[in-house]
Amino acid sequence: MANVVKLNKSSSGTSMSSSGSGSSVNSGGDGTVTVTLPVLKGTVGPDVADVRSLYKNNGMFTYDPGFMSTAACQSGITYIDGDKGELLYRGYPIEQLAEKTSYLEVCYLLLFGELPGRAELEKFEDTVMDHTMVHEQVATFYHGFRPDAHPMSILCGVTGALASFYHDSLDIHNPRHREVTAYRLIAKMPTLVAMAYKYSVGQPFMYPDNNLSYSGNFLRMMFAVPTKDYEVNPIVERAMDRIFTLHADHEQNASTSTVRLAGSSGANPFACVAAGVATLWGPLHGGANEAVLKMLQEIGDVKNVPAFVEKVKDKLSDTKLMGFGHRVYKNFDPRAQIMRETCHEVLKELNVKDPALEIALELERVALSDPYFIERKLYPNVDFYSGIILRAIGIPTPMFTCLFALARTVGWISHWMEMIGEPDQKIGRPRQLYTGPTRRDVTSLAKRS
Ligand code: ACO
Repeated sequence: MANVVKLNKSSSGTSMSSSGSGSSVNSGGDGTVTVTLPVLKGTVGPDVADVRSLYKNNGMFTYDPGFMSTAACQSGITYIDGDKGELLYRGYPIEQLAEKTSYLEVCYLLLFGELPGRAELEKFEDTVMDHTMVHEQVATFYHGFRPDAHPMSILCGVTGALASFYHDSLDIHNPRHREVTAYRLIAKMPTLVAMAYKYSVGQPFMYPDNNLSYSGNFLRMMFAVPTKDYEVNPIVERAMDRIFTLHADHEQNASTSTVRLAGSSGANPFACVAAGVATLWGPLHGGANEAVLKMLQEIGDVKNVPAFVEKVKDKLSDTKLMGFGHRVYKNFDPRAQIMRETCHEVLKELNVKDPALEIALELERVALSDPYFIERKLYPNVDFYSGIILRAIGIPTPMFTCLFALARTVGWISHWMEMIGEPDQKIGRPRQLYTGPTRRDVTSLAKRS
């Protein structure tokens, strides 16, 4: 049997005891090994056993695929209590931010740690909006993609390519360069995303209009054409802004951790954010709201819901209820409740009767009263409703993840800035539990059967 490692907390620190065969570290008489580890305390949340010196002192790694119990960094940006269903940006509950602030206020908060005053906000809005245009050369990149390319593949490419335009501000050790890059990324993402959409439908790119709000400008770049006036619907604008706020950050999720890991090597922030875009594309992460819509279309009718739920519960079917479940939230996802309300507001305003919503509500009802989902603490997540809102607004399904990337850019860049600003920042380099062949010699091809 492999070594058994026990973690026992004591007032002087955490004791980790390891017993079993093959232990090479400080064995006691009974084969038990005790390693004392310091315990780190955050401002809120679980204590953290500090294993940094474990390998150096005891020749052991820790094993935690999927980072189920591992804090990969310290951070002061976002806090989630998955059991309580709580999400805080810099200490502020997401429900209050969604109700009382705009997305750009939230961006300021995530980047700088405090909500802006009126003058600070105006300056911030002006600065961000000043950066909304992209170099004309960027447009030529789009023409290199097939018109039926997935917009996330375009977004991965053009986001990384932005680095080639800003040689003047790529010194990651210069705080001013980092700040300008943050403004550029937050400002240009809506332009890049809207251009990906316009390219896919064969319409001309729309230049940004800096007289509009951040979200209003995005809607105009998506849906206006040069031949007609376009009026931004304030309810849709508010819903868009709220979707951006709810997706702005989510602590150390897969894409943010990717951005941090890429950034830890000293890679430029545009390349790091492109890596975040690539990670977000996966259906278990940012691709989930797209997958929710596909699932609702496959179900097709409310009457098919019970059979679909049975299929989800059948392990052999390999079917998941998309938009349900979360690695961290084991109670409700607080963002899902806000999305649910916004979803009804938008559908009412646009007078949309969407059969997908009826199916979604029935799925939610059936799943929330079924022991399979209750026992596993599976609740609707933010993506369960966001897809329906985006569809009602007229955003095609393949664009959904691009909007998520747009909104999450501020989270990625805030984490990147926090990490680069740390004095003892190191390149990220996980270790492994090697299970491959032990050393062996190569036989020549003639002797191999
Ligand atoms: N439908 C059916 N069963 C599920 C679902 C689901 N959506 N999610 C989890 N389960 C089941 C698992 O099969 C497992 O069952 P078991 O104990 O009988 O084996 C149990 O619940 C625990 O699931 P895990 O996979 O261990 O949970 P984990 O925390 O690793 O996964 C995840 C979280 C990936 C989000 C998962 O719930 C999922 O795939 N959901 C659907 C995709 C989705 O909506 N993703 C969006 C996440 S939010 C975001 O990225 C913004």
